[in-house]
Amino acid sequence: MVSNRVVRFTRFGGPEVLELVAEPLTAPGPQEVRVELRAAGLNPADAKRREGGPQYSVTFPTGIGRELAGVVEAVGAEVTRLAVGDEVFGTVPDGAFQTHVVADAGFFARKPAALPWEVAGALALVGQTAWDALASQPVEAGQTIVVSAAAGGVGGVLSQLAVLRGLRVIGSSSPANHDWLRSRGIEPVTYGPGLVAEVYALARDGITAAFDLHGQSAVRQFLELGVPPHRVNTNAMDPSEFGIRHVGRGPTSIPTLDALSALVVAGDVELPIAASFPFDEVADAFRRLATGHLRGKVVITSEQG
Ligand SMILES: NC(=O)c1ccc[n+]([C@@H]2O[C@H](COP(=O)([O-])OP(=O)(O)OC[C@H]3O[C@@H](n4cnc5c(N)ncnc54)[C@H](OP(=O)(O)O)[C@@H]3O)[C@@H](O)[C@H]2O)c1
Repeated sequence: MVSNRVVRFTRFGGPEVLELVAEPLTAPGPQEVRVELRAAGLNPADAKRREGGPQYSVTFPTGIGRELAGVVEAVGAEVTRLAVGDEVFGTVPDGAFQTHVVADAGFFARKPAALPWEVAGALALVGQTAWDALASQPVEAGQTIVVSAAAGGVGGVLSQLAVLRGLRVIGSSSPANHDWLRSRGIEPVTYGPGLVAEVYALARDGITAAFDLHGQSAVRQFLELGVPPHRVNTNAMDPSEFGIRHVGRGPTSIPTLDALSALVVAGDVELPIAASFPFDEVADAFRRLATGHLRGKVVITSEQG
């Protein structure tokens, strides 16, 4: 008999606190679907929550994981938009890392057939965060923006969306990712003490807005470059210390997820998969995430069907 294999934790700590348990399959409620997992993306927030980050409220035992892709295998009585057999991707509240995910049907968009499972599983959370953060600033074609951690999950998508909107994008990464940034139309700079001089030399006419996906050191440098605080958005830290903005992902938007998947399929946005691990090796996947130096995403995959 098929059972649901669930990644969960019952105490805070490193990847070693994650355990795999088998549970009976549950039927979806009237407005829910059950999705058989194919791939799921790891996010820094998953690790922060597992470590006991104060911004998260956790009741043990708890699941983990927020973005996934899979195949609909059961639908609730009131669900009309999705059917058994549909390939979908989306985000769920803390519980993407299980082989059979039951969640509100409204969390899922259809996965285009041409979108690889690993990319679909890693796209929804970072993609919509990037989309919503970029949309929060009144930037126009021809203006210049700066993005920290531009080769990471959110930063990579945000930078490419901005390029597609005609913005000039200066993005920070380690030198190892500069060629990739250039290949996506992003002007690379190296994070660290030389960043302010490097950006200033590239953008003497000024910077309209800055998007932070790293934290304090990047935000300090954006302000040093003269970007007004209300034109700096961070997704990586508490904004109150600097009086900057913190616009992250809003409620699930199916049109946004559809637009993102279409852009990826068209090759207009690339979401590189830095590393892929089998479902059972989720702890190792988190160890890879913790290195902090990724081009794109770490995913876990589940072979079923
Ligand atoms: N709703 C929300 O607001 C929301 C949603 C998603 C994520 N977030 C947050 O946004 C942040 C970014 O998430 P993510 O998934 O994009 O992270 P990520 O993919 O794990 O970021 C990795 C990137 O960080 C870069 N990096 C490492 N050290 C750096 C430094 N000192 N300065 C600048 N960049 C550096 C790395 O570049 P190299 O590899 O070149 O070293 C790498 O490409 C996290 O804090 C996350 O929790 C918030």
